[in-house]
Amino acid sequence: MAQTSMVLVFLLFAASSYATQGVELDSICKQAENPTFCLNLLNSKPGGVAGADLVDLANYALDVARANITTTTKLIKRLIRRNVNDTEARDHYRLCLNQIHKGALNKVEFTQMTLNSGDYQSLNVAASGIRTHIELCIDGESPSDTPYNDTSLLPTYANVISQVVDIILIISNNL
Ligand SMILES: *[C@@H]1O[C@H](CO)[C@@H](O)[C@H](O)[C@H]1NC(C)=O
Ligand SMILES: *[C@@H]1O[C@H](CO)[C@@H](O)[C@H](O)[C@H]1NC(C)=O
Ligand SMILES: *[C@@H]1O[C@H](CO)[C@@H](O)[C@H](O)[C@H]1NC(C)=O
Repeated sequence: MAQTSMVLVFLLFAASSYATQGVELDSICKQAENPTFCLNLLNSKPGGVAGADLVDLANYALDVARANITTTTKLIKRLIRRNVNDTEARDHYRLCLNQIHKGALNKVEFTQMTLNSGDYQSLNVAASGIRTHIELCIDGESPSDTPYNDTSLLPTYANVISQVVDIILIISNNL
């Protein structure tokens, strides 16, 4: 009994000593698919995380998602040029250009508007929309489509965007 409460006190102390000022990053990032990625990303916020609230962190993650989408769009345009003679590859990358450059980017802007209007109820649905467009690029637009065997860097880049969206979803569920 005494031992159990000692352990409890220790655990409570350990947990509180890891809490950052303002927002508890650990409690957010331990819910992420990749907690290390989450901690690295949020800790890279310019000006630091001390004093940042959840809305600041979500805005920062959306900025990162937007930058990652811009980088990914450049990659896709290169891939389309490189594969002009390969119909299957070219069609896949054109679909991805549409899903990522148009679809996902529009959903990032919509999610940021939703966040800054304080409509936290709608945030999860808005942010999930970003991920839907990423999935449509990787898996194909129809359930009967065989996913294109993409050996380029695009699946890795797309996965980075999905992980950033994962963090936005966790934050939105805590707002
Ligand atoms: C995504 O953005 C982060 C932060 O700016 C950057 O470190 C990372 O290299 C980017 N990754 C891709 C695939 O664009
Ligand atoms: C596509 O095919 C044309 C005609 O055969 C060729 O001139 C061109 O170099 C090819 N482009 C690429 C990127 O392979
Ligand atoms: C995908 O392409 C790579 C490289 O061409 C090949 O090694 C791999 O077996 C392919 N995978 C599938 C599922 O077709």
